[in-house]
Amino acid sequence: MDLNKDQIMMNLKNKIDSVKNLEDFKVLKSEFLGKKGQVTQLMKNISKIDKEKKKEYGQKVNQLKSEIEDVLNSFMEELNEKKKKSEELKDWVDVTVRGAKNSYGKEHLINKTIRESFEIFTNLGFTVVEGNEIEEPWFNFDALNTPEWHPARDMQDTFYLNLEKTLLRTHTSGVQIRTMTKMNPPIAVVSSGRVYRKDEIDATHSAMFYQLEGLFIDKKVTVGNLRKFLEIYTKKMFGDSLKVLLRPSYFPFVEPGFEVDVSCINCGGKGCSVCKNTGWIEVLGAGLVHPNVLKNVGFDPDEWQGLAFGVGVERIAMLKYGVSNMREFFKNDIRFVE
Ligand code: PHE
Repeated sequence: MDLNKDQIMMNLKNKIDSVKNLEDFKVLKSEFLGKKGQVTQLMKNISKIDKEKKKEYGQKVNQLKSEIEDVLNSFMEELNEKKKKSEELKDWVDVTVRGAKNSYGKEHLINKTIRESFEIFTNLGFTVVEGNEIEEPWFNFDALNTPEWHPARDMQDTFYLNLEKTLLRTHTSGVQIRTMTKMNPPIAVVSSGRVYRKDEIDATHSAMFYQLEGLFIDKKVTVGNLRKFLEIYTKKMFGDSLKVLLRPSYFPFVEPGFEVDVSCINCGGKGCSVCKNTGWIEVLGAGLVHPNVLKNVGFDPDEWQGLAFGVGVERIAMLKYGVSNMREFFKNDIRFVE
C-alpha cells in the first residue's frame, strides 16, 4: 500500500485555495480527517501492510495526519482573522471624510420686502393684521363702495368660487373692512398677502401678486398725513433723496384718491428706461377713506376720517433689488433666491 504524502499534501493545498467560508472548510476537513476521510482510510489499510512494515507505515500516517492538522489549523486561524477584520471594517468610520453639505434656505425677496415694510410701519405704531385670501364679494367690493353695477368691479372681477359666494380677492383692501368691523377707532393697521386678477402674465403683470395694505382711522385725518406716511415709508425703503408724487386718481373706496409715484430709483428723476423717461415710477394707490365705506362699517364720517394705501409688493421688490422680470419671483429657481 503506497502512501504518497507529497501528493496528498499538494491536493490539500489546492483544495484549500477554494475554501471561502466555514462550510467549505468543514467539508474539506472531513474529506481528509473525517470518519470516511483519506487519513482514516489510510489507517484502516494498515491491516493490509506487511507485518515488519506496519510500524513504519503507522508512523508515516500519523506524521501525515499531524501535518494535515497543522495546515488546517493555521488556515482556520487565518479564516477567523479575516472574518474579524471584515466585521471591524463594517463598523469602521472614516472621521476624515467631509460631511454632507447642508443647504440653508434664503428669505424670498417678496417676504423680505413685506417684512421690511412691516418693520417700517410697526415702528410708526401700526399693527399687522391678517386678511382672507378667499374673500366674500361684500368685503372685496360692496363694502368698499363698489356695488354690483359699478364699472370698477368689471375691471377687477376675478376668479369666483362656490357659486360666486366667494372669490379670490382682487386686492387687500377687503382687510380694511374686516378690520373696521372688528376694531374701534383709532385704527392703524397694515396687512399683506396674495391677490388675484384676470391679468395676462408678462414682465410686470401676473394673475397672482402681492399687495400690502395700510389703514389709518382717526379724527381729522388729512392728505398731509397720508403724504407723510408714504414719504417715510418710501424713503426708508429707497433712500432719503427720494421724492413722492401724489397724482389724482380714482378708486371707488377713497375720496380723494391718488396714484403714488416715487422719483425714479434708477436715474434719480432725470429720465431713463426704467421710468420710461418720465422720471417717476408708480408704486401704490392711496387716498382718504370714502365716507360711504366708513358708513358701511358703522363709523360716523363726521367724527372719523381715514387714509388707506395699497402697495404693489413685487413693484417695490423689483425696484429695490433690481429685478427686471416679475416672473422671477415665482419661477421657483433657487439660484434667484440665492
Ligand atoms: N386696492 C387698490 C388696488 O388694488 C389700491 C388702493 C388701496 C387704493 C388703498 C387706495 C387705497 O389697486
